Amino acid sequence: MTMIVSVILVTLLSYIFSDYIKKYSLNLYLIFTVVSITAIVHAIYMLNNYSIVYIPVLKQIMKSIDSGALGGSFFILVMYMGVMDMRFKISKKLRINRGELSILATIITIPHNVHYFFAFILGKMNISNYEGIPLWASLMMFAAGVFAILIMIPLFITSFKFFRKKMTGKSWKNLQEYAYIFYAMVFIQVMMVYILKPSSIIRNINIVFYIIIFGSYTIQKVKIIIFRNKQKNLKNNYKINVNSE
Ligand code: HEM
Repeated sequence: MTMIVSVILVTLLSYIFSDYIKKYSLNLYLIFTVVSITAIVHAIYMLNNYSIVYIPVLKQIMKSIDSGALGGSFFILVMYMGVMDMRFKISKKLRINRGELSILATIITIPHNVHYFFAFILGKMNISNYEGIPLWASLMMFAAGVFAILIMIPLFITSFKFFRKKMTGKSWKNLQEYAYIFYAMVFIQVMMVYILKPSSIIRNINIVFYIIIFGSYTIQKVKIIIFRNKQKNLKNNYKINVNSE
């Protein structure tokens, strides 16, 4: 449920503060970095068997960062921007901050990565839900997560204008294509997490939620690709006809 609430909140806030995100992007990066470092320190404490007590609202925020829900929500929003209908005002308002939101997504996902990467390596996936699960399944969750991190890092670095300027437009675009593999890896990782949990209404709602989100995105994307290819072919045929006349 944390994920569903996070997606709604992140989308609403990104829309309401759309005009300010670009303007104050550096300030936002700084705030997110400070929060992210704090969450990493807390993750290290948790890995060392300390428990941290938060006040009520802070508890939900820190839980959403640690579980990957907050970072995942930002990534889902950024992913959907690739298939949004730009005739709508809401799509335009959201899309102008795509680069900034993807940077924020990465910064706030790092504590989750650090926590669960080391929990897995150190054999400290001590959440009772994960006990007794088949090795192949936990390895698949881990491998998909690590693969996602490996793709996320270059995409993150090249999101900054400074590094983007050092690349040709074509090579930057080619690199961005890896985002599709990243989304697929996140989907596999999250699906493995939920499939491995004991059946419950919450767990099943989450599975349906992720299938709808990633499934509808894939269908939209495929439709767009087919449409673009058709347009390209039409253009090429037109050129051939004009040249042969
Ligand atoms: C860029 C890389 C990653 C992204 C974007 C990501 C994203 C997510 C998301 C969106 C969730 C679901 C949160 C929810 O529904 O509440 C999640 C859960 C989880 N992920 Fe990741 N993840 C990544 C890497 C990893 C890695 C490397 C591991 C290592 C095993 C991992 C282990 C887990 C676990 C154990 C959960 C369940 C957490 C819980 O139940 O509180 N993730 N991740």
